[in-house]
Amino acid sequence: VSDDANGASEYALGTDADELHRLGFQHQLWAEQTTGAWARAGFAPDDVVLDLGCGPGYASFDLADLVGPGGQVLAVDRSPRFIEHVTVEANRRGADAVKAWVSDAEQLDLRPESINGAWARFVLCFVDSLATVVDNVARALAPGGVFAVLDYVRYEAFTLAPGAAVFDRVIRAASLSFRSNGGLFDVGQQLPTLMHRSGLVVEDIRPVARIARPGSALWHWLPTFFEPYLPRLVESGSVDEHDAAEFWAEWDRHSADPGAFLLTPPMAEIVSRKPDRS
Ligand SMILES: C[S@@+](CC[C@H](N)C(=O)[O-])C[C@H]1O[C@@H](n2cnc3c(N)ncnc32)[C@H](O)[C@@H]1O
Repeated sequence: VSDDANGASEYALGTDADELHRLGFQHQLWAEQTTGAWARAGFAPDDVVLDLGCGPGYASFDLADLVGPGGQVLAVDRSPRFIEHVTVEANRRGADAVKAWVSDAEQLDLRPESINGAWARFVLCFVDSLATVVDNVARALAPGGVFAVLDYVRYEAFTLAPGAAVFDRVIRAASLSFRSNGGLFDVGQQLPTLMHRSGLVVEDIRPVARIARPGSALWHWLPTFFEPYLPRLVESGSVDEHDAAEFWAEWDRHSADPGAFLLTPPMAEIVSRKPDRS
């Protein structure tokens, strides 16, 4: 996470219009896993749910439909540009249940025991101090409240089959670049222990990995990310020009092979609950 030239908070992947659209597409691709996690978390009408690191708010508006007019969605992100987008969109839709504001998850400004639920998808992988963020969420949850997360467990297991060494090299470079931006990235590994230390009971840890085949919508997930990001890896010297060209040549070869597939990086859905007062 860094600050851009205007001093606005920006995370590793940027907050421009392309990233806004990429996140919308990604939201569609992971919709089933997302609504499944919300069902297992028990999010329901009249709940007050935090969408932590909400980005442009794609999940926030779906959550607003779930909690209904009697509930609230607190949409929080460190990017002013994304929060501006959520605010404009909430006004346009008349989504009064969505309250959006700029805040860093590490300095979350919520009253203790003021929320029934919290959701964080593809966010905790970018924070600097995971333990602080988990503590902040645990403090804000009312007894019985649920913190549900979808995030990476092992990014480097992203696999293109039948396989190409250059693909593995680029994935490793990307994974290292995420880490050098501050976070641990594979946060799914640490989260259950940190949740437990913050007084939450980890109720469920579920593996999430998918296969994408050429031509499917999920197959397009990779280029929507690497088309803008690979040039940045080349610019920073973590991938050389030859490997970058070879990466796309391999991608084209695999796209034309009906037997090819992509295994998405293993993630975990984690559902934890603050115990009721005994
Ligand atoms: C990959 S996007 C995911 C957005 C959204 N959760 C979704 O699934 O569509 C990551 C988001 O986390 C936000 N973010 C990163 N670090 C943050 C922090 N420390 N506090 C608050 N938001 C943060 C970024 O600004 C960005 O909007």
